[in-house]
Amino acid sequence: MAASLRIGVLLSGSGTNFRAIAEACHNGAIDGQVVFVGSDNPRAKGLDYGRRCGIPVFTVDYRSVIRRVCDGTTPTGPSDFVLDDVQAKQSLMPAHSDPGKLKSFLISRAAAEAQLLEKMAAYPFDLLVLAGFMRTLTPYFLDRVNVAPRQLRVMNIHPALLPAFPGIDGYGDTFRYGCKVAGCTVHFVDYGEDTGPIIAQRAFPIRETDTLESIRKRGLQLEWQLYPACIQLFAEGRLRLVKTRLQPPVGQQTSRTVVRIAPDGQTQAP
Ligand code: GAR
Repeated sequence: MAASLRIGVLLSGSGTNFRAIAEACHNGAIDGQVVFVGSDNPRAKGLDYGRRCGIPVFTVDYRSVIRRVCDGTTPTGPSDFVLDDVQAKQSLMPAHSDPGKLKSFLISRAAAEAQLLEKMAAYPFDLLVLAGFMRTLTPYFLDRVNVAPRQLRVMNIHPALLPAFPGIDGYGDTFRYGCKVAGCTVHFVDYGEDTGPIIAQRAFPIRETDTLESIRKRGLQLEWQLYPACIQLFAEGRLRLVKTRLQPPVGQQTSRTVVRIAPDGQTQAP
């Protein structure tokens, strides 16, 4: 991509990945700039770094939005929310989930996502980066960000070697399972939880002397290198989405979209 990449960031906590990305923009490792930092958590520490850098910061208090939907104060979703469409596309919750629970999950999340989208609209961006954003995103949100056909532009970093250990505690799940290797994954976000096309992964051995804390520490250090590198590949237009046939099928899935990384110098518009 010719112009500098405009990167939007969403985070929920300490924001060390956001910091690594902002520094990579600053020192030229990423040809881009962070144009906003948003959070579902008004007390997220990562927002302070954004404020100090003069990056626009905003929050949507997911907890209170979800409470208002679930206690019936504002029981409907956004005006452009179509439950049947979102429900048919989503794979965040199993299809056989309690219909009432699934409905209130989707409506409450879409209500919060509509507020996120409204705030994000003030800051045009090319790529949305989830940097420790501890909320799943529904098709309602993703369809309004991924507007160009066959292009994905929401990226996430996950603290495990996907497809193993999706969810909220990747390093913890890896450690408790007794794995001998841990790692992190950067992927595009699709309609499932941590199921989207994998861009890159880094692994490291787990030693007998390791603790969960030491694994988290080593993992984070790899994340700080891997995430900026993947964002730069996106900025260079080198991430291609390709459909592959799964043989044999994995569950119900017979094909899958995967990422191919074009060689240096072979770019295409992201
Ligand atoms: C990172 O380990 C990231 O991989 C993980 O949260 C941490 C955020 O740290 N993300 C997830 O678990 C997403 N499901 P940070 O706030 O210091 O960047």
